[in-house]
Amino acid sequence: MAEVENTDRDRPVDLRSDTVTTPTPGMRAAMARAEVGDDVYAEDPTCRALEERVADLLGTEAALFTVTGSLANLLGVRALVRPGAEVLCEARAHIARAELGAHAAVFGVTSRTWSHPRGLVDLAAVRELLAPDAGPYFVSTAAVSVENTHNFGGGSVQPLDSLRALRELTAASGVGVHLDGARLWHASAATGVAPGTYAACADLMSVALSKGLGAPVGSLLAGPAAAVADARVWRKRLGAGWRQAGVLAAAGMYALDHHLDRVPEDHANARALADRLADVAPGIVDPAGVQTNIVVLDLAAAGIRTGAAEVAERARAAGVLVSVLGPAALRLVTHLDVDEAGCRHAGEVLSTALK
Ligand SMILES: Cc1ncc(COP(=O)(O)O)c(C=O)c1O
Repeated sequence: MAEVENTDRDRPVDLRSDTVTTPTPGMRAAMARAEVGDDVYAEDPTCRALEERVADLLGTEAALFTVTGSLANLLGVRALVRPGAEVLCEARAHIARAELGAHAAVFGVTSRTWSHPRGLVDLAAVRELLAPDAGPYFVSTAAVSVENTHNFGGGSVQPLDSLRALRELTAASGVGVHLDGARLWHASAATGVAPGTYAACADLMSVALSKGLGAPVGSLLAGPAAAVADARVWRKRLGAGWRQAGVLAAAGMYALDHHLDRVPEDHANARALADRLADVAPGIVDPAGVQTNIVVLDLAAAGIRTGAAEVAERARAAGVLVSVLGPAALRLVTHLDVDEAGCRHAGEVLSTALK
């Protein structure tokens, strides 16, 4: 069962992101006990154990522990897309909007996007964009990237049928599939579909330990052994080889042991928060659309004239932190450092701040 030591009513209720969690005492103790070695020499037993465990969980041949999800995504997309070719993704995908153009800046990857209000795969749009062999004048498509759950889409879960259909469509034309599974655990918790079933719809994928699972650092890139071995070389080439990283891997192991099973609590808290806010401001969010731990509020849809930044500032002054996604959009993310009472408190504070 999860520990709740981090919940402290004197601290703000921080709903900006699920990355803000701090390691629990149990996690810190596991880090202190970790057996370590030099991971660049592949001699860190805790890193090896974590990589094997995540590969097993996802049903892939291998996995590579990386410092961030952005790095795991960068290495994953690089493995599928040669310089000058393109990756297709949804317009608000993390790889398109929140990785500072790394895929283009570092590896010469170009991209085109489709738009979906909740960030979902749009098969008709993909079919239209897909250009696996675009000849000497146009950019060829080498991969499609999907985000599950979709962060800026409001934590939405990609329907398994669409992922399978995407896999079929791309495989037929030799195009790869990259999965940004930073919150794949949340998709699984929401649907009961095993992580490995989602993973089977992709060639390479990233999963995070430092978001809903509460580890201080770390993601993994998972996929075929040869691609992961190559990514290990590129990780070092980019200066991100690390030495006694087992202390961090131990936090990840602990997160998988103790925090994976409690993810549904975050979903219930998010849904309750959405219910409360939809009562106060009809139209601000559709609670039925809150599938996981992310709630996106659309102030304009609720006829609220106050800007998102002003509402966030009012909430901050009352001890509740939220993210501003746009002039009229706020994001609230539940996680293991905010309990049910904290979310109720946030609901009260936001109800007032929205008026
Ligand atoms: C969907 C998604 N992918 C990737 C990342 C990148 O993770 P990191 O912050 O570890 O680079 C994030 C971060 O929040 C994310 O939400």
